[in-house]
Amino acid sequence: MLTADDAGIARAASLLESGLTVAFPTETVYGLGADARNGTAVAAVYEAKGRPAFNPLIVHVAGTQQAQEYVHWSDTADLLARHFWPGPLTLVLPLREGHGLASLVTAGLPTVAIRVPAHPAARALLQAFGGPVAAPSANPSGRISPTRADHVMAGLGGKIAAVLDDGPCTVGLESTIVATDPQALLLRAGGLATEELARVLGEMPGQPEAGAITSPGQLLSHYAPGAPLRLDACAPVSGEVMLGFGRMDCDLNLSERGDLTEAATRLFDCLHQLDRTGKPIAVAPIPEHGLGRAINDRLRRAAAPR
Ligand code: TXA
Ligand code: MG
Repeated sequence: MLTADDAGIARAASLLESGLTVAFPTETVYGLGADARNGTAVAAVYEAKGRPAFNPLIVHVAGTQQAQEYVHWSDTADLLARHFWPGPLTLVLPLREGHGLASLVTAGLPTVAIRVPAHPAARALLQAFGGPVAAPSANPSGRISPTRADHVMAGLGGKIAAVLDDGPCTVGLESTIVATDPQALLLRAGGLATEELARVLGEMPGQPEAGAITSPGQLLSHYAPGAPLRLDACAPVSGEVMLGFGRMDCDLNLSERGDLTEAATRLFDCLHQLDRTGKPIAVAPIPEHGLGRAINDRLRRAAAPR
């Protein structure tokens, strides 16, 4: 466990340079990072997570200029990057010739998912390391994403070189993923609300055609706690623990004042806590707007048949 001070950041960067895996905080969730140019290091990420190898990773860079070294930039990418980078937005763009990224990062696709995180410790690490860092969320494949260093330790402790600890994540949901090919397509709802994207694009982003595998990581069962999850519940039935929203009787509340941003920040931590009870979890209805869309997306996957 490394503290996110100068010494901790330098140590984390040198572990990445040696081809090891390091978990680090971003504003969305903790990521498990490896040098994106080093196939062996990237393989260790898949190995630690027990992740199916067809599922490509997000590449994290320090700024837009670095991103442009790896991808064919576009007008839409430029518009979105200017508004939302650094921040919880990932762009999927065509790879450049001679990009130098390990093929395991992209799982052989002609495109790559890339983002510039806003978290100060992530930015400091990317600066110190100086190269692209491939990082999926730092949880065992299919399980709840980590928003605190101790979530990472509980899931991956002993399987990775280090965790850079800088407290809880402020957004708490993974980044929103948009392909700009050339018009914007929303591949994953996330920490940047769809309405925010629409404000800048001048229209709602398109949806990928049903059945097209555009974001292979969007597996139906994902983010799953050990016990079953029941959605849109008004009250728990016997044996269940209740995750509430708004003023109500429950074991844990995502946001008593019904605030979707607060609910997003707390979602994965509440699921981790309720998961530790070993009991089935009932979840109150969450409104389907703003960050509620991404929260409901994660909840539906957590509740899906495994
Ligand atoms: O907030 C986040 O995005 C976090 C932090 C650590 O940055 N990372 C994250 O990574 O959520 P991960 O690996 O759990 O999710 C990456 C998603 C997957 O759904 C994957 O299929 C999709 O990105 N993806 C990666 N490359 C892609 C590509 N070339 N085309 C379409 N989807 C891609
Ligand atoms: Mg994930």
